[in-house]
Amino acid sequence: MNLHYGMDINEKGHLTISGCDTVDLARQYGTPLYVIDEDFLRLNCRKFKSAMEKYFKNGRVMYASKALNTKAILKIVDSEGLGIDTVSGGELYTALETGISPKKLELHGNSKTKDEIEMAVKNDIYCIIADGFDELTMIEEVCQELSKPINVSIRLRPNIDVHAHHAVQTAKMDCKFGFGVIDGQAIKAAEIINNSKWMNLHGIHCHIGSQIFSEDPFKELCRHFVDFACDVREKLGAVIKEFNCGGGFGVRYTEADEPKQFEAFIKLISESLTTLCSERDYPLPLVSIEPGRSIIGETGTTLYTVNGMKEITDIRTYCMCDGGMFENVRTALYDAKYTAYCASKMNEKHDRFVSIAGKCCESGDMITWDTPMPHSLARGDILAVLTTGAYNYSMASNYNRNTVPALILVNNGKSSLAIKRQSYEYITANDLLPEYLK
Ligand SMILES: Cc1ncc(COP(=O)(O)O)c(C=O)c1O
Repeated sequence: MNLHYGMDINEKGHLTISGCDTVDLARQYGTPLYVIDEDFLRLNCRKFKSAMEKYFKNGRVMYASKALNTKAILKIVDSEGLGIDTVSGGELYTALETGISPKKLELHGNSKTKDEIEMAVKNDIYCIIADGFDELTMIEEVCQELSKPINVSIRLRPNIDVHAHHAVQTAKMDCKFGFGVIDGQAIKAAEIINNSKWMNLHGIHCHIGSQIFSEDPFKELCRHFVDFACDVREKLGAVIKEFNCGGGFGVRYTEADEPKQFEAFIKLISESLTTLCSERDYPLPLVSIEPGRSIIGETGTTLYTVNGMKEITDIRTYCMCDGGMFENVRTALYDAKYTAYCASKMNEKHDRFVSIAGKCCESGDMITWDTPMPHSLARGDILAVLTTGAYNYSMASNYNRNTVPALILVNNGKSSLAIKRQSYEYITANDLLPEYLK
């Protein structure tokens, strides 16, 4: 068995996470249940922070909160000294409500609304990462209306191909994010910001994709950053103050994934930028990264109850769990793979292949296909699906009017509720019956 940090098997043969019996957690909080190991989360934050401190005089880690944005998680990440990257009004609002200093917040997004930009400018956040020309016009308008300036960085699309699912490749030429470098859009954006009364030309940014295991695309990114910064210096006489390298560092979902130590990526970025900047006599600016999945992904586990088994003779055995694409859409969306265990029977041999199905009305509503489970797997057993900390809760929906599960933190034998399970009352609270239908 390939258990994550903080996991163990107790004398009852149950999976434990940070000293908590997962079968007891399932009983206490109900299932499906998102479980986050707080100690593991803090460890990941510290690993990134200390790697940045080791390799850069001036480096910053911004947690990409799209992976999992909720008050308790933001509070923990903030207490470990990381900044927070948000990508919507809702994420930014949650961070502000949590009491995170606006100076530690940045706002991303390829289709920001005027309201979102207003929230950012009004609250004096650290930086907006601009993604399009119309957005630059909107930022200018908002700043003028509020008589407030704002730091603006430019999201670059330098045409970098990474070996990842097409849906998480974010810097190729034909993709909705950022300003093209090759076609001259990015330098035009720099010129607009540089000539603006309200926008401060701050930095350049690029997020090349997600679940990346190779360092090579980051090397390519460094070259594009220094080339572009030199171009800006030459054409506009301006100096870029921050290189933001985005996130995307891969994590372990199954044994087939072999993630690198975070430090290896940081070391490579540092060596590449230092060499390239000194070759071009460019002052090395503040360097930041925006890891999401690699901070929270492996710290999360989802617990399910088995509702029943269905054998399709000579074809496949399905195990019906009480979750599905409403709480984990990644399998349906990206054909994601997961490691799963029978948390209530960890000491039994896992050598019968079953496919874990959700409860939604779609054949593609699967948690994971053909995964080894004990022969005795049956109704009432508790399943644990690993590495569900990132893009599970944050992508949850009410499809089929299922309620979004609760999320708990576990730490050294203690558990605490961090998000309440939705109730049927909650999900119907905004429903109205127009007068004529009553
Ligand atoms: C701009 C930006 N930064 C950071 C991230 C985080 O990526 P990951 O969770 O793979 O580290 C994303 C993910 O989509 C992103 O779009």
